[in-house]
Parts: sequence; C-alpha cells; structure tokens
Amino acid sequence: MCGIFAYTGAQGKDAGKVLLDGLLSLEYRGYDSAGIFTPESGSIKSPGAVAELRKKIPTGFGGKSGIAHLRWATHGEPNEKNAHPHQDCTGELWIVHNGIIENFKELKEKLAHAGHRFASDSDTEVLAHLVEEHLKKEKNFEKAALAALNDLRGTYGIALQYKGEPDKLIAARMGSPIVIGLGDGEHFIASDPSPILPHTKKVVFLEDGEVAVLTPHKHSIYKLNAEKVDRTPTEIDWSPEEAQKGGYEHFMLKEIMEGPEVVENTLRGRVIAEKGMVKLGGLEAVAKELASIERVIIVGCGTAYYAGLVGEYMLEEFAGIPVEVELASEFRYRAPVLNQKTALIAISQSGETLDTLEAIREGKRKGALTLGIVNAVGSTIARETDAGVYNHAGPEVSVASTKALVSQLTALALFTVFLGRQRAMSEETGKEITAELKKLPAKLKAILGRTADIEVLAKKYASSRDFLFIGRKYNYPVALEGAIKLKEISYVHAEGYSAGEMKHGPIAMIDEHFPTFALAPHDSVYEKVVSNIHELKARKGPVVALVTEGDTRVAELADDVIAVPKTLEMLSPILNVVPLQLFAYYFAKEKGLNVDRPRNLAKSVTVE
Ligand code: M6R
Repeated sequence: MCGIFAYTGAQGKDAGKVLLDGLLSLEYRGYDSAGIFTPESGSIKSPGAVAELRKKIPTGFGGKSGIAHLRWATHGEPNEKNAHPHQDCTGELWIVHNGIIENFKELKEKLAHAGHRFASDSDTEVLAHLVEEHLKKEKNFEKAALAALNDLRGTYGIALQYKGEPDKLIAARMGSPIVIGLGDGEHFIASDPSPILPHTKKVVFLEDGEVAVLTPHKHSIYKLNAEKVDRTPTEIDWSPEEAQKGGYEHFMLKEIMEGPEVVENTLRGRVIAEKGMVKLGGLEAVAKELASIERVIIVGCGTAYYAGLVGEYMLEEFAGIPVEVELASEFRYRAPVLNQKTALIAISQSGETLDTLEAIREGKRKGALTLGIVNAVGSTIARETDAGVYNHAGPEVSVASTKALVSQLTALALFTVFLGRQRAMSEETGKEITAELKKLPAKLKAILGRTADIEVLAKKYASSRDFLFIGRKYNYPVALEGAIKLKEISYVHAEGYSAGEMKHGPIAMIDEHFPTFALAPHDSVYEKVVSNIHELKARKGPVVALVTEGDTRVAELADDVIAVPKTLEMLSPILNVVPLQLFAYYFAKEKGLNVDRPRNLAKSVTVE
C-alpha cells in the first residue's frame, strides 16, 4: 500500500520540505523505498525510509511544487531503480502511483515498439510513457493524461506532473484512495488526509474514475469521459493520528473494514473465471515441480497457522493432495521427514516470524520445495523461499491480525484451484470456486454493514470471564481464531475447540456463566453443530451462534445470532472470521483496553 503526496502552491512554501514532512506522516502505511521530484530540482530516490531519502537531499533542493512517494513493492524489486517517481523518455513527465496496472505488459510492448525505452521493471513507468505518447498527439497535458487513463486496466491512485506546466498537478483514482487538499493558494494530493491536515482541513475525496486538475488557485474534477464533476468539499477535524486510521478509532477496526478491498486485491489479475483456472505469477517458475509434488506441509504461527488449517481442508478436498499443518515453532525442533516431492509452505503476514523462517530453512536443508504466502513484500521469508504468492493486503498495523488472515485464506483458495487444476479438479469445479471467490467482496460488505449489531452483542457479553468457541470442519480453525482474537486483545480466557471434541472435556466447564460462540453455518456439518448447541443449552450455557442468512432453527435455540451470507463451504471461513474479529474488537473496546497494542505482544515475533 504505497503512499502518495503532491503539492502545488503560491504561498512561498518550500515544496521540498512540505513533501518530505508529508511522506513522514505516510510512513505508517509501510514502505521499502521513497522518492521525490520537483520541476526546479529534479528527482531523488532512495531505498528504505524517508530518513534515508532525506540524507541524500542536497542543500538548495526544493521548488514551488512537486510529487513524492513511499513505495510498498508489487512489481519489481524494492530498490532505487523501481522507486517512484518514474519518468517518460524525455524527463518532462513524472508520475507517482499506488495500485497495480493489470495491462501494463501489453502497454509496455506497444510503447517499446513505438520506440520508448524503459528504465525500471515497474508498471508505473509505463504510465509516464503512455502519457508522453498521447502528449505527442494531443499537445495538451490534461487531454493526454485523460487519454492515457482511458487505456488502463487495473487500480491506481496517481499524481502526475509535467515540467512544461510546472504548477499544474493531475490526480486520478481507480480503486486506490486519493484525497485532494484545498488550501488557500495551495493544493495537495495524498493517499489519505494525514499529510494534508497540517495545512488545511478542507478536502475532497476522489471517487473511482475521477480525475482532478490542480493549480495553486484552482481545482477541477472530471470523470474519465471528461464530464465535469461538482463536489462539495468535506471539512475534517481528525487529528493526524486519526487520519492515519481513516477516521476509525483503531487500526484494528480500519483493517477489518478493509476486508472487501483486501479480497479484491488478493484476487486481482489472478482469476481466469471463464476457464475455472488461476494464474499465480509468483509460482510460474516452479509450476512444473508443483505438478509432481506428492505432499504439502504448511507451517505458520498464531493466526497464520489457523489459516494453514483451513488450507489443509481445502487442498485435501479439492486438490486431492495430502497436507499436514504444523506450528512452525514445533516443526523446527523435531526431525521432520521431507524430500523433493514435498512442498513446504510458510504462511506469514510479516514474513519475518523467526520460527516460520527457521522452519523454511530446515525444509530447504532437507531438499523440499519452499513456498511463501506472505504479505510483506521483500521480507526475509519472501526472499528465502523458492517461490510464493503475495497477499497484497497492504500493511497491517494492529497487532491483532485481521485483514491479513482474510487475504491468507483467499490466497489459499487460489492456491487450491491452482494445484487442483494441475491434478483432478474439473473445469466445472474450478469455475464454481473462482466465480464464488469474486462474489466474496460484496458478501463481506454485507457483513460489515451489520457491525452495529455485533457491537451490541459484544457489549452484552463483555463482562464474561471465559468464552468457548466451537466449530467443525472448515469452521474448526475459525473457532480457534475466534478464541485467539478474544484472548490477545481482551485478556479474557477463551478456548477454541472442535465442536465434536466438546463432549470429551470442555463441556464440563459449561454453566449459565460460561458462554459459547458456536459457528453453525448451513454446511455439511450443520446438523452436528445444531446437536452441540442443544447440549450446551441443556447445561444452561449462553450461546451466540453464527448462522447462514435465512436460518431459523438455530435462532430458536441460541440466545443471540449473527447471520452471514451463504457461500461455498470451503470459502466460508473467509466470511466467518470477520464477525469474530468485530466481536473481539468491540469486546476489548468495551473493557477500555488498548486494542491496537495489547500488552506483552509484538506485531512481528522475530525471537524464539
Ligand atoms: O507475521 P506472521 O503472520 O508470521 O505472524 C504470526 C503470528 O505472530 C500472528 O498471526 C499472531 O498470532 C497475531 N497477533 C494474531 O492476531
């Protein structure tokens, strides 16, 4: 999730300083490199943080306007060459971009054919050359930018600058957020309001398919078909910290709310729905080896391990391949039997969890093919594995993993179709899964629309000292996840159990003071879970149940229900984890706890 900041002003402020200060407040979004351009002083880029970029800036660098960027790598290595801003062949056009241009390869080929020369591997650079190409015909910066944007497929938040009109900036949005700051004799473009707020509280949030043209004294907004848009500015009185949280009280809530976008980002460019196939660029180099793999072992820690448990069910049922899931911290200390026919998959949001990394190193030593399902691009696990799938969930700030899990489960479903279609999965099944995957963002939005009901429920149960979470089959790992989420942010004793195991021990704890969260979606084990709910009620245990929309049987039995849309059983964890995340969030908030920074925990566990 890159960060964009751009400035044009007639107030005598130094654009270089304004931009560097703005980048600092965007660093929370994550970065691997940074860069800045002003028409007066040119461009400087650096791998690493803004502090590294600052060290390279010579005295006297500045100007009246400019664009700046923090990069979170997607296409191309995180190095200086691929850092933004990118330029065209002439050095007249400069661009910063957040998002992924899906048709960049075909555009690049056409442009190369027309004589354009590229300096990086980035999809963004293609855009600068595309505007250059249109400028040759249009002879007008705005028209050229608009024509180029109409050629794109994919997502973008963009700021564009042309040396020929140095005080003019063009911004555009499709899928990646762009905010315009309206100052007095100055205008700003940013990925979120945090770098704008020290200058002005008046902003316009661009909608998808909109383009803004800014000079110090004027701003205009258009649609991609050049139709003018009238938009009343919004006054925001968020503190800079609130702005980073998108106006939410905590990062955790913001990150839960990003679920629909995260699924879209994980799926983007990877689903060939009409063939029931999946394209995973990061696995292309090892596709042949994967076709002859006889066994999969998944390793991870905490929430990432639970994602692996869901992956086991998916891969065995739909790809017909034996899978074992192991806690990374155990795997490295026993003597696992691996060979070249084993694929060892590490799941990790941070890509830096030491136990998971060491498990991968152990796998490599024993000749296994190592793969990563990793969110942090360029992280150690991403670098040390043979191949992998990036989540594209954007940085996760809150210690409790939420959106990363949603993206891990989505990536595992993609991986299942990938391996399955290499084996016995029919085209029809592939089509069914990929079609349903595409419907998940809308279904997640429907769940998030019921946040207020979940908040009421969480408050009702917030004085409980213990909580049991139960589920079966695909929703057994979801129950484990519900428990860890509640534990880690509310410090309440919570246990996740397979519903079938309840009678083998935990049911002894149940009485009217010990509530259970039962996952009872309408799936192949529904009847069994209904029986378990009867058993709980017979012991006076309060029950909150997660059910499929339209279910009435469980509603009659349970004390409270949360309904979620119907989906395929194998994909149901992607929806079902979200109400549990919201439940834990509001539960901890009600207790007045520091939700984003729970005691004794770190976001990335880089020690044993
Ligand atoms: O960065 P990783 O995905 O490797 O982290 C693994 C666990 O430490 C992490 O999922 C942890 O359990 C979370 N705090 C759970 O919310």
